[in-house]
Amino acid sequence: RGTPALRVTEWSDLEQWWPELGAASEKYTRGVVGVATGSATYPGAAVLSVGGALAGPTGLVRYAGGARAEVLHQHPSVITTGRVGDAGRVQAWVCGSGLGTGDDAAAELRAVLAAPVPVVLDADALTLLVDGSLADRLRGRDAPIVVTPHDREFTRLCGEEPGADRVGAALRLAAWMNAVVLLKGDRTVIGTPDGRAYVNPTGSPALATGGTGDVLAGLLGSLLAAGVPADRAAASAAYLHGLAGREAARGGPVTAPDVATALRPVIARLG
Ligand code: APR
Ligand code: MG
Repeated sequence: RGTPALRVTEWSDLEQWWPELGAASEKYTRGVVGVATGSATYPGAAVLSVGGALAGPTGLVRYAGGARAEVLHQHPSVITTGRVGDAGRVQAWVCGSGLGTGDDAAAELRAVLAAPVPVVLDADALTLLVDGSLADRLRGRDAPIVVTPHDREFTRLCGEEPGADRVGAALRLAAWMNAVVLLKGDRTVIGTPDGRAYVNPTGSPALATGGTGDVLAGLLGSLLAAGVPADRAAASAAYLHGLAGREAARGGPVTAPDVATALRPVIARLG
């Protein structure tokens, strides 16, 4: 096989890819993103992924899961339900961070995968794919899947470590899973099932703190729900997430909620 099409994402790409919010935009035409993350045990993951989703281009965020009270307390504009099946219509789902890996979590993941819309799978959803042998369900799916592993999650999914050739690793897993793979790291790489790859140049060590991955997953879901193709959505989310990490670091030591907050001024520059 020849050299894959590889590009380093640039700001001008985002300006081109970001969805137009025309004068006639109202909340439903901007897209609705569903977030199925968190649990009574890990409510923070829900708050952070919803925070990422709220910074994105969609007009409405629906939350389904076990952390409704915490989500509403932090984000009163979100519509919440206990379960994915009761959430109503969305144009994309984000699933996994802090979800848990028990039977209830597996049922919620199945409900997400049954929806005919693009899906972001992170963290516990990736564990459930491996342990529950659900990976086969991805193959027959029409709507795109984006998986967002860090190195340990990649190793569990793939059966081997990413190694030095991270682009090659992301492309291998993407082809095998028939999913867009966003392999997180200091230089996050994105591989598509048809052999294209993006390298993200904006990473910041400020992001190396618990929960920033949850913010990224939420933002990515918002882009998918707004109709951005999966590869561009992944490249855009990684790029903006990195810039937000740098922006947040100007104020001192960074925590994950700071990254969600810093996404807003960064994204406003796309205006
Ligand atoms: N430079 C640039 N970006 C970085 C760096 C770095 N040195 N280190 C981390 N990042 C970015 C990654 O690219 C990713 O976007 O920070 C984000 C971290 O995401 P995750 O690895 O998913 O971490 P997160 O889930 O937020 O929090 C850590 O993961 O494995 C679990 O139990 C573990 O609670 C812990 C949690
Ligand atoms: Mg994570």
